[in-house]
Amino acid sequence: MKILEIVGGSTLSGTIRIGGAKNSCVALIPAAILSDEEVTICNVPEISDTDNLCEILNYLNVENKRASESIVINPKNLENKEISEEFSKKLRASYYFMGALLGKYKKAVMYFPGGCSIGTRPIDQHLKGFEALGATVSVEGNKYIIEAERLKGSHIYLDIASVGATINIMLAAVKAEGKTVIENAAKEPEIVNIATFLNNMGARITGAGTSTIKITGVQRLKGCFHEVIPDRIEAGTYLIIGALCGENLKIDNIIPEHIESLTSKMLEMGANLEIGTDYIIVSKKDKYRNTSIKTAVYPGFPTDLQQPFTVLLTKCPGKSKVTETIWENRFMHIPYLVQMGADITIKNQTATVLGPTKLTGTEVVATDLRAGAAMVAAALSAEGKTMITNVEHILRGYENIVQKLTDVGAKIESREI
Ligand code: EPU
Repeated sequence: MKILEIVGGSTLSGTIRIGGAKNSCVALIPAAILSDEEVTICNVPEISDTDNLCEILNYLNVENKRASESIVINPKNLENKEISEEFSKKLRASYYFMGALLGKYKKAVMYFPGGCSIGTRPIDQHLKGFEALGATVSVEGNKYIIEAERLKGSHIYLDIASVGATINIMLAAVKAEGKTVIENAAKEPEIVNIATFLNNMGARITGAGTSTIKITGVQRLKGCFHEVIPDRIEAGTYLIIGALCGENLKIDNIIPEHIESLTSKMLEMGANLEIGTDYIIVSKKDKYRNTSIKTAVYPGFPTDLQQPFTVLLTKCPGKSKVTETIWENRFMHIPYLVQMGADITIKNQTATVLGPTKLTGTEVVATDLRAGAAMVAAALSAEGKTMITNVEHILRGYENIVQKLTDVGAKIESREI
């Protein structure tokens, strides 16, 4: 088992370069198989989610070569086979192979996907979209057989502005006959990144980034070169860490507009931020004003930053509140923060934080990816040593986290026990 050991209290300064967005990259890799030619994706993060998707590519006989920060994918010999439960369960984003295989071969067979246990995470909206395009879905236990004789463009209204369903329906619809309209589509920057990739391959998608996406089917998709956008959640996590223990800590290679909901909150709290065109410099303040956040779909406050942000709230005098509206089970980090000295209570979907409190290092668990990020943030700002277990969750989404933090002065080590 891998653990992280962190001795808190160091001041972090220097530059952290942000990598490509996990939640974009994990859709771009499956999307690449829609092409009839070789595609190159650059700024690919080195995280285990990417490795797991490459394993699925290998299994499907899709050539893929990793070079530093890029991946070249050639799907010309792809064999459309059932994707096993073991592969499907390794990560959430395995389900993008449903849309991509259905879109290209009109058939996909795979199992319910894995991912963090942050809620029930149904896929009904994905399936509703596939069915609207003319597919039939048979479910045998955890196995999904999705097939169509022909895929025909359709008008689809999503009950929830789901990121995954929006992307999966785009993947299934790019080669469908005629026009598809997705209403109440999710607007996250990752969706724009995927649509741009598909358009570079010859797809005809408009409206990505708004709540109405229009797709006119094409017969063929060609090779292209594409860049993954910077990871706004990785950037936000390090920004929060900087506000806890930074001194002129530069978070570089980012798109600041993508985390405006976070930076505007931090500025309201009195944070010390210098926002540049593609970077933000952050320094710790002795005192922050208390505040409240409510997670929402983009451009609202991202659920994926709620957990690390809660650590910063422990430093604010008075009462702060965090209301989670996207996932039913995203407060698993709270008992560990309490164990470290935080004063936090949970009622329904709201956590109330009373501060300021001092945090002290102890043994904690990364119960999911962003809970793990919260543990890292808490440990860096705590007195003494913290040991974090279940680190595999963190490595799914934060590339070279140990190196990146060590380079700016953190005392952090990864060990096998
Ligand atoms: N939902 C349904 N039915 C569906 C799809 C979603 O009820 O068919 C519900 C979900 O249960 C949830 C809400 O809709 O309550 C939003 O889910 P969404 O589909 O938008 O989430 P996702 O695509 O499964 C992605 C990210 C998550 C991130 C959410 C919200 C990936 C691989 N995952 O998940 O990222 O929290 O969007 O922004 O892109 C993370 O990175 O730590 C992470 C969990």
